[in-house]
Amino acid sequence: MDKYLLFTPGPVNVAKNVRMAIYQEDICHREVDFDRLLQRIEAKLLKLYEIQNTADYRAVVITGSGTAANEAILSSVVGDKSILIISNGEFGERLQTISKIHNKNTFLLEFGWGERLDLGKIEACLKEKAIDIIAMVHHETSSGMLNPLEEIGVLAKANGAMLIVDCVSSAGAEVINMEKFHIAFCSSSSSKAIGSYPGLSFVVGKTAEFEKLKNLPVKSTYLNLDKYYQFIKNHSQTPNTPAVSLFFALEQALANILNEGVSHRFNILKQRAETLRQGMSALGLKFLIERKDMCSVLTTVLVPLHINVGGLRQKLREKSIIIYEGKGCFKNKVFQVGNIGELSFDDIQFFLTSLKNILLEFDQAEIKPIVSPGREASNINHNQKYREDTFDVCR
Ligand SMILES: Cc1ncc(COP(=O)(O)O)c(C=O)c1O
Repeated sequence: MDKYLLFTPGPVNVAKNVRMAIYQEDICHREVDFDRLLQRIEAKLLKLYEIQNTADYRAVVITGSGTAANEAILSSVVGDKSILIISNGEFGERLQTISKIHNKNTFLLEFGWGERLDLGKIEACLKEKAIDIIAMVHHETSSGMLNPLEEIGVLAKANGAMLIVDCVSSAGAEVINMEKFHIAFCSSSSSKAIGSYPGLSFVVGKTAEFEKLKNLPVKSTYLNLDKYYQFIKNHSQTPNTPAVSLFFALEQALANILNEGVSHRFNILKQRAETLRQGMSALGLKFLIERKDMCSVLTTVLVPLHINVGGLRQKLREKSIIIYEGKGCFKNKVFQVGNIGELSFDDIQFFLTSLKNILLEFDQAEIKPIVSPGREASNINHNQKYREDTFDVCR
């Protein structure tokens, strides 16, 4: 195998034409070539988000990873208002960390990692604290849970609150209907389901909300969202020097999704996730959350008692397969298998066969002997054992 197969939630294996796209003639970001490139990217982003009234929305592109887009939003749109962060995992907590730095009226409504959001509690909190702005993560990557964006959009509208959403790991994989879900601003990044290289992030927002930013206090120089908006509006450019070659790659990755068809791409990712889930279930593995709550980007798998995550990752790495380990309170309790980027059906079968063989090695080390003389070691342990506390990991 001459390349890694990235079964991670990003970075991803990029398409060949995305790799080739960065080999373009040098252009200057203060010339019309870049203006046009950025205009084309913005138009494609609005198409990816399936926005009908394109005049009502704008998209700005930031040189920086997904956190840059989140920090640009959280430092620029709140002013002195109150903001409620809804969190059920690592990335919700990060929103709170960022918001606390910039916004003194930051409130947190916390659920356990991997726990479903309780709409009743959210509504009660909105009323009790007279919340102006809600911030949440769409796909909480740490658990793989897809949070109920549409339902929270309804609550936000009914309670007169503005909704901002971290779509870093859901854009390009899940429906984000900004108009229908009442989203004012949402963030995403180039290196996950969009299928390009890391290094760019973007904020898509309502034009009317972008217009209001000039009246708010400036809390960041580099990540001043109003400045990004003024530059794109007035010059089709970015305020500072952008990573131009990454913009070429991003345009190609977006073109790939649009040429394929947005819903077609979503279906492919769903099918890949389903194939992986069926395959891993057949190996006796169990998942952290219920299937109906999962995003189609990755699967979070509980680690059976006798398996060491570091050892499992190393054995897969020797086959050029890269997976994620759990972080925070999920450390050593889960591993994560992504299915975005350029992964073929054969790659998925290769992963499942490799995993099966590695699990057998772990099983054989644990329960001997599994193999009778002259027979293949094919009897996988369909009843993997788990630690008592595995099923309530962080609640
Ligand atoms: C939901 C979510 N938000 C934010 C981030 C942070 O993005 P980055 O590491 O690109 O800054 C990630 C990264 O995985 C993420 O999954």
